[in-house]
Amino acid sequence: MPLFDTVVSGGLVVTAGDRVHCDIGIRGGKVVALGHELEGREMIDATGKLVLPGGVDSHVHIAQPSGNGIVMADDFETGTRSAAFGGTTTVMPFCLQEKDVPLRETLRAYHAKAEGQSYVDVSFHLIINQPNEQLLGQDLPALVEDGYTSFKIFMTYDDLKLNDRQILDVMSVARETGALVMVHAENYDAIRFMTEELEKAGKTAPRYHATSRPKVVEREATHRAISLAELVDVPVMIVHVSNREAMEQIRWAQQRGLRVFGETCTQYLVLTEDDLDGLGMEGAKYVCSPPPRDVESQEACWEGLRSGVFSVFSSDHCPYRYDDEQGKLNPRGRSSFRWVPNGIPGIGARLPILFSEGVSKGRMSLEQFVAVTAANPAKTYGLYPRKGTIAVGSDADIVVWDPTKRVVLRHEMLQDGADYTPYEGAELTGWPTLTLVRGTKVVENGELVGRKDFGAYLPRNRSPFASPASRVDL
Ligand code: URP
Ligand code: ZN
Ligand code: ZN
Repeated sequence: MPLFDTVVSGGLVVTAGDRVHCDIGIRGGKVVALGHELEGREMIDATGKLVLPGGVDSHVHIAQPSGNGIVMADDFETGTRSAAFGGTTTVMPFCLQEKDVPLRETLRAYHAKAEGQSYVDVSFHLIINQPNEQLLGQDLPALVEDGYTSFKIFMTYDDLKLNDRQILDVMSVARETGALVMVHAENYDAIRFMTEELEKAGKTAPRYHATSRPKVVEREATHRAISLAELVDVPVMIVHVSNREAMEQIRWAQQRGLRVFGETCTQYLVLTEDDLDGLGMEGAKYVCSPPPRDVESQEACWEGLRSGVFSVFSSDHCPYRYDDEQGKLNPRGRSSFRWVPNGIPGIGARLPILFSEGVSKGRMSLEQFVAVTAANPAKTYGLYPRKGTIAVGSDADIVVWDPTKRVVLRHEMLQDGADYTPYEGAELTGWPTLTLVRGTKVVENGELVGRKDFGAYLPRNRSPFASPASRVDL
């Protein structure tokens, strides 16, 4: 009788630290052996392929309320389906605090959206936009205890932004509770000023979205977020960094010994602000914040990934349909870029694009690829080593990857709920051929074979990176 439920054999197994030719024995959804000539009831032949830990996408937006009659293109079914098609086996969307509703109640409703509707595993961050006494003193500490160990705060957007005092309050709670704060760093007032000036001048097309939030507004806010975190003595993650100036603020902080972490995303490696300059409203397809910049900024983001300034690579998947009154082409969006919903889809494209542009083109090693797409996000958000690696005891979240397969990317391949991909027509080398979640096949050779009630919710440990610099962890 075979010892294992499933064996993945003959492939090159790659983790963030190593690469080795071996078989993987899986039992009960876990990796239970790494060895040679293992036998399982089901044998998966990965000869000539890479065998990678499933991707962990630690920054996605799924079924998040967007206000003003705008509706996100993905629910949990379509968002997690697309993740699986692209080799990602864990996603971390955001539960957005709603006005005058206890956060626990909003969380219950958000769980109900995910429950029974997820092809891959899921864990939630919290978005804090009203840091009142009840939330700071009672609710957040209790939620951290319950495994919601990270919160995102915003320095911009009308309904989300916190002022500096509020940021300090949230950071103080993070310091007390051991949670990790993620910051969207753009200067709200500067963007408003720029937006009003552009509108007065009749410059309302989607391309002016990028003009309204230049690098300096991101650089200033990044520096301020780092300074506030230093004041409170708390680690901080600066998310979706788009350019050299912001990246250098993070590098500067890291070189001073501060626990400041950085994330960049697919769009900052392969898009530029010229993409917002399409005919008519076409540019709306690329409206996201911070906006894609220029070729030099792309280079800086590669440098940040290679050098470790950015430890995490995410999609910031935030999908709106293009040809839809509840999406990019809503009536007000046609009147000004200000009303075009911010965000672009990318959950399924994240790994294939980074692999092709990074590994296949020699910009990063296989180990670096695994580190920034799986191991580091899992470590950063308290899921490691259950997720993010292939080791005895880890969940058998495994992707068999064909490093030589050439693909011209088409939106249909990504299986999300949007009606376009910003990466349409990209010529890619490398593609996932099999996605296993906890040892169970979810996508095989471009066919969905998993069940949408298979994904589990993952309460998380505190981040090992979230303790203050001055605290000694024994
Ligand atoms: O434009 C973006 N990135 N929208 C998603 C929300 C956010 O700020 O991450
Ligand atoms: Zn953001
Ligand atoms: Zn985001």
